[in-house]
Amino acid sequence: MRLDPRQHDRGSFCCGVEVLDTYLRQQAGQHQREGIATTHVLVDDITPGSILGYVSLAAAQLHLQDLQPPDRKRLPAYPIPATRVGRLAVSSQHRGQGYGRLLLGHAVNSGLSLREKLGVRVLVVDAKDERAAMFYKAFGFQPTTATALTLYLPLGNG
Ligand SMILES: CC(C)(COP(=O)(O)OP(=O)(O)OC[C@H]1O[C@@H](n2cnc3c(N)ncnc32)[C@H](O)[C@@H]1OP(=O)(O)O)[C@@H](O)C(=O)NCCC(=O)NCCS
Repeated sequence: MRLDPRQHDRGSFCCGVEVLDTYLRQQAGQHQREGIATTHVLVDDITPGSILGYVSLAAAQLHLQDLQPPDRKRLPAYPIPATRVGRLAVSSQHRGQGYGRLLLGHAVNSGLSLREKLGVRVLVVDAKDERAAMFYKAFGFQPTTATALTLYLPLGNG
């Protein structure tokens, strides 16, 4: 669900990566209000105020040349509309329980449902390091031609 600063306890979220904790505490709400990025939080029914993980999404674009050659086929030479997975993190206490997978699946579904309203061809993410890139690659993300840590996932046709 969408982050609601009145309802969700951002202060006690800890994923072990300082910049990702700070983003949730200090910037996510502001970015959401300003239309820069929307943050989606994962909570459970028992403690609905406690954030298990989050993903922030924003509109983005890639150059056609950023895609690997097979993914460029039949596409016009325009910028490729994208949804950016800006940040994704799971609370340290809740790692390894499939929540990262769930949040990424939510990002894919969001990209697909946005397509009802506006073009979205790929999900794009800037992985913070090679380990994070491995996480995304396991779900089918590929590196862009320009930067190995910028990865994209084609959302397919139809
Ligand atoms: C990366 C992260 C989101 C994964 O969340 P999680 O809930 O522990 O992951 P899941 O339980 O859904 O695991 C999904 C798969 O990813 C793998 N995986 C988990 N963390 C990984 C990591 N850091 N690197 C590579 N693969 C990873 C798991 O082994 C699992 O694969 P499997 O199903 O084949 O066993 C979490 O470790 C995290 O918040 N890390 C700190 C922030 C971060 O690195 N974010 C990445 C975006 S820049």
